[in-house]
Amino acid sequence: MTLTICLIEGDGVGKEVIPSAARVLSALGLPITFTYADAGWECFIKCGDALPQATLDAMRAADATLFGATQSPLSKVEGYRSPVLTMRKLFDLYANLRPTRSLPVEGTYQGVDLLIVRENTEGLYSGRERREDDGQTAITERVITAAATERIARTAFQRALRRPRRTVTVVHKANVIKEGDGLFREVCLRVAAEFPQVTVNEMLVDACAMWLVRDPSRFDVIVTENLFGDILSDEAAGLVGGLGVAPSANIGTGKVAYFEPVHGSAPDIAGQGIANPIGAILSAAMLLEHVGAAEAARRVERAVELALRDGVRTRDLGGTASTAEMTDAILRRL
Ligand code: NAI
Ligand code: MG
Repeated sequence: MTLTICLIEGDGVGKEVIPSAARVLSALGLPITFTYADAGWECFIKCGDALPQATLDAMRAADATLFGATQSPLSKVEGYRSPVLTMRKLFDLYANLRPTRSLPVEGTYQGVDLLIVRENTEGLYSGRERREDDGQTAITERVITAAATERIARTAFQRALRRPRRTVTVVHKANVIKEGDGLFREVCLRVAAEFPQVTVNEMLVDACAMWLVRDPSRFDVIVTENLFGDILSDEAAGLVGGLGVAPSANIGTGKVAYFEPVHGSAPDIAGQGIANPIGAILSAAMLLEHVGAAEAARRVERAVELALRDGVRTRDLGGTASTAEMTDAILRRL
């Protein structure tokens, strides 16, 4: 059976790291067909749509999508909405999986193997915002529903079942945000009762931020709401080498799923050929795992590890290798 993978490079370094990941996928000897689609700020400037219908169709037709990054303006632009948010909402990709695993890189934490399961459709990213008092007061509503919490909790516990430590930490701020986080906590603990084989504990988000720096090896699976998960996962990435090496998956109940490095378009280094492709390549490994090619996924992860073990480093890791050189090094070790 041929695997169809839709590639969306997007903006900035997305145009550099997605072709690298595609080279790695091609080298595996699997029957893969690539399709190509557009999204992002450049796409918006060109055609007035940051996520054209043709892109949505290509994502639907594919077995999975590998996505680079898009650039979003810091202030409101009429007609522009972040394609990432639109995709998550439209395809109901409610689970954002962000694994953090130690890599053989000096000066980074060793012994870390954690998975942040981030709710991906609501919280403060619901888009329910307004200005009042002549623009001098901004209100952003943080939506937490039992339904969305229940399914993200179930995802977290199911993932924990497949991991050696089988532990879930529910991260919230229920001591202060009594309604929203109170509900989140309550539902997670209710779902926990369905998984007696999994150990559950809970932690306030600020303490979690501290413990991640102090002793990240204590965490297995973390389940949390949207914004907390966004922030904690960037923090976790920083422990093992930074945004350049962090992969993620966006999955839901339907067939559409997309995989992307955690980083953004990195305008400060875009176009120079120096972006670290590892985040995108490890995202491709998550994609392979998702479509049932677990063995190929392991090969990719192993090749990344070997290249790093042999001292190949892009600039963000303190070396001088270009995107292409890092990719070549990984390809040679597949
Ligand atoms: P960023 O992730 O693009 O960059 C943060 C820092 O990490 C920069 O110093 C950058 O050079 C570095 N970095 C990122 N990726 C790297 C790589 N592959 N190799 C080496 N270094 C890397 O985040 P920033 O600067 O906050 O946002 C830039 C743009 O990206 C914004 O427009 C933002 O909206 C967008 N963004 C998009 C995301 C997405 O498409 N899912 C996620 C995060 C940000
Ligand atoms: Mg982020």
